[in-house]
Amino acid sequence: MDRFKIEGGRRLEGTVQISGAKNAALPIMAAALLTSEKVHLDNVPRVRDIITMAKLLAHMKAHVVAQDLPPSAMTIQTEEISHTEAPYELVKTMRASVLTLGPLVARFGYARVSLPGGCAIGARPIDLHIQALEKMGAKINIDHGYVEARAERLLGAEIHFDKITVTGTENVLMAATLAEGETILTNSAREPEVTDLADLLIKMGAKIEGVGTSTIRIRGVPKLHGATHKVIPDRIEAGTFLIAGAITRGDILVTNCDPGHLGAIIDKLRECGVEIIPEGSGRLRVRVSGKLRGADVTTEEYPGFATDMQAQYLALATQAEGKSVITETIFENRFMHASEILRMGANIEVEGRKAIVHGPTPLSGATIIASDLRASASLVLAGLVASNTTYIDRVYHIDRGYERIESKLCALGARIERIG
Ligand code: EPZ
Repeated sequence: MDRFKIEGGRRLEGTVQISGAKNAALPIMAAALLTSEKVHLDNVPRVRDIITMAKLLAHMKAHVVAQDLPPSAMTIQTEEISHTEAPYELVKTMRASVLTLGPLVARFGYARVSLPGGCAIGARPIDLHIQALEKMGAKINIDHGYVEARAERLLGAEIHFDKITVTGTENVLMAATLAEGETILTNSAREPEVTDLADLLIKMGAKIEGVGTSTIRIRGVPKLHGATHKVIPDRIEAGTFLIAGAITRGDILVTNCDPGHLGAIIDKLRECGVEIIPEGSGRLRVRVSGKLRGADVTTEEYPGFATDMQAQYLALATQAEGKSVITETIFENRFMHASEILRMGANIEVEGRKAIVHGPTPLSGATIIASDLRASASLVLAGLVASNTTYIDRVYHIDRGYERIESKLCALGARIERIG
């Protein structure tokens, strides 16, 4: 199993290019199930979850053509389908497989998708996806760990999400494009990844209004057609590199990002004393000349501070002066990285959904274990500033969502290598 070896203490300098957004590309790939025509995608990140989604679509006999694997450009065509099933073996490695549920039932009238179960960051049920499809007339049956959905044609409905859910909004949005009549989604997720999906669906002929707001109206159409789409830049990868620049007191130019999606993280980093300077379109320079100051943060749905940036921010807080109270409101168990960084010498107390960090504390290299994707990123950030050598086990988590993170960091002057 691969691990990372990091020799910390190096200041990062140079330019890093951000890849396409994993969490936009995944629903966008699932949306290709909604049409028999070709969907051409560009700026797809070369990460493990994309390969898993491609495998899942290929298992259903969708035709996935990519120049290389993992790809950055890909064409998906689903003229016919042999299985309308997302099996447990694939769903257990990637919860986003559940995004095939809405498109399959909408176009083929039947879907059988393994229930994802809990994961390292919390229970993560999909009850809101299921309730919404039921409201649209799908007959749902949960049996042997699978959710089966059946509907001759889904019907438009008024759906209020009791809780804001990103993939729930995406699943139901996709389903509603082919439903009969109008669907109104309220309390929908406003994440840029939802907007990117809606933009593709509109190119495919879907009738959608209110994109980017919490009320989305969809007028169903009988058929969608092919389209060409470039996936938005990954705001979480961009945020992670902004923190890499800040934590190493470096000077990095982050390119190919969308600063408009990074408002909450930019504001928070500036509050901590980090300089973030826009340098032309899609480019942000990050550097630190004075002291890093701690600041409290509470995770929220977009446009608030993303839960997917919480772990990386915690690593930064260990190097900032004073107390930072980090409150996680989205997932119930998302502080696994804290106990690992504690072992490196940080001063962190976790009390329920709060982590209280007192800084700055010197970190020293240790052998630590990555528990999920963003936790892995925070351990890499901690390793970059630790003295001596840090070994991070189970880095397969980081490969799910970061494209060649070690090469990108090495190009900035970090000493990080992948060892078997
Ligand atoms: C998406 O997960 C992202 N995944 C996650 O990215 C991200 O952390 C999360 O949104 C929050 O921003 C993808 O886009 C593929 P939710 P999702 O449904 O959609 C509860 C990463 O590291 N809930 O918005 O699964 C749920 O338990 C990750 O890239 C229900 O109760 O998250 C959570 O507490 C991990 N019932 C909250 O809502 C439901 O039916 C928000 O979850 C659905 C969700």
